[in-house]
Amino acid sequence: MHSHWLLVLLSAQVYCKYTTSKAIPPNAAYWNRLLYSTLVKLDKGENPLRQGSDWPRCMETNQELLRTNLHDFNSYPNLFQEFVQGMGCRTPPVLINQPKKCVSGSGVEGNPISLLFAIKSTPGHFEQRQAVRETWGREGLNSSGLSVHTVFLMGSPRVDDPDLSQLLSYEASLFKDILQWDFNESFLNLTLKMYVFLQWSLKYCPHVTFVFSGDDDVFVNTPLLLSFLQSLDSSKASTLYSGDVIKTASPIRNPQSKYNIPLSFYDGPYPAYVGGGGFLISGALLKPLYSVSHFIPFYPIDDVYTGMCFKALGVSPKAHTGFHTFDIKEGDRENLCVHKGLILTHKRSPQQTKKLWRGIHSPFLTC
Ligand SMILES: *[C@@H]1O[C@H](CO)[C@@H](O)[C@H](O)[C@H]1NC(C)=O
Ligand SMILES: *[C@@H]1O[C@H](CO)[C@@H](O)[C@H](O)[C@H]1NC(C)=O
Ligand SMILES: *[C@@H]1O[C@H](CO)[C@@H](O)[C@H](O)[C@H]1NC(C)=O
Repeated sequence: MHSHWLLVLLSAQVYCKYTTSKAIPPNAAYWNRLLYSTLVKLDKGENPLRQGSDWPRCMETNQELLRTNLHDFNSYPNLFQEFVQGMGCRTPPVLINQPKKCVSGSGVEGNPISLLFAIKSTPGHFEQRQAVRETWGREGLNSSGLSVHTVFLMGSPRVDDPDLSQLLSYEASLFKDILQWDFNESFLNLTLKMYVFLQWSLKYCPHVTFVFSGDDDVFVNTPLLLSFLQSLDSSKASTLYSGDVIKTASPIRNPQSKYNIPLSFYDGPYPAYVGGGGFLISGALLKPLYSVSHFIPFYPIDDVYTGMCFKALGVSPKAHTGFHTFDIKEGDRENLCVHKGLILTHKRSPQQTKKLWRGIHSPFLTC
């Protein structure tokens, strides 16, 4: 076996020993049991990865598994049921690709450092995407020698949503920054979105130095972000998992909340993780992250999931005080000087984003 995989297997085992006690009770939560059974297989030297569950058929296979394993499945909210049904499905067809994203144009070849903005969007968010393109997500070669690339990640509209496919393919041909997969767009499918992005980046941008993963409704101070990245020494630059760290969170048990997690699905605290509104990952960590994610069952909250995978790899999140995924004081939200000193603020309309961007670049600004 490839040594890289061995490393991943070992760290997955360490992680799982930490997460689940040795003898897991038969009534343990579903996710915990899934992880545990993966571990048991690893311990026995078996390959725990389910092979050949191709996209259209994985859902049926899963239903059978669910009826056997989750006694109160019918009491889950509809969207959560859909998530659980699809949580073993990882290979949605690609609808729109940008295979040349990191090879063509702005001279990446001779360029030692590059940043890829991977922005979670949805088909209808045309305005948000345009604001990002015109401001902090503008692609190109930075004067200080850093190249910036941007992709927007999306699934497909749900059955009752209007068909935007022609508009999207026009947008994709015009800007060449849309990546779309054929899975139902949903908050609970963001982990799948992260996973297919990792797979994509390893194939099409394998040499990228840094990835910024974030939402399409945040404001990013790109010049400050770039100077932060350039200030890192090479060991920090290759082990970066940084942003707004959430240290001690536990699942929310409130059926009214969009973050609700039924107790029969997951039991236990969350590892320390970085808020998904916007965070940084070293390009060097993309491959280990992708590899270890094969052993960790999908979780309905994508940033928690990323934290679980990093925990398995032994990489702990580093807090950066410039990242504010939970917004800043109300009185500061239009304050240009405050924004000039921050890397990320949440959440901003396309209009606010343009205004803030113009503002922090104004030659008249004295802070
Ligand atoms: C995620 O996408 C899959 C594939 O389209 C879909 O079957 C599933 O229902 C989606 N999950 C949610 C929670 O919508
Ligand atoms: C998307 O969800 C709908 C229900 O809202 C379902 O009928 C459809 O099969 C799902 N699509 C995929 C690709 O799973
Ligand atoms: C390039 O990045 C530096 C920070 O490293 C910033 O000061 C400068 O304004 C950026 N230039 C362009 C053209 O974006």
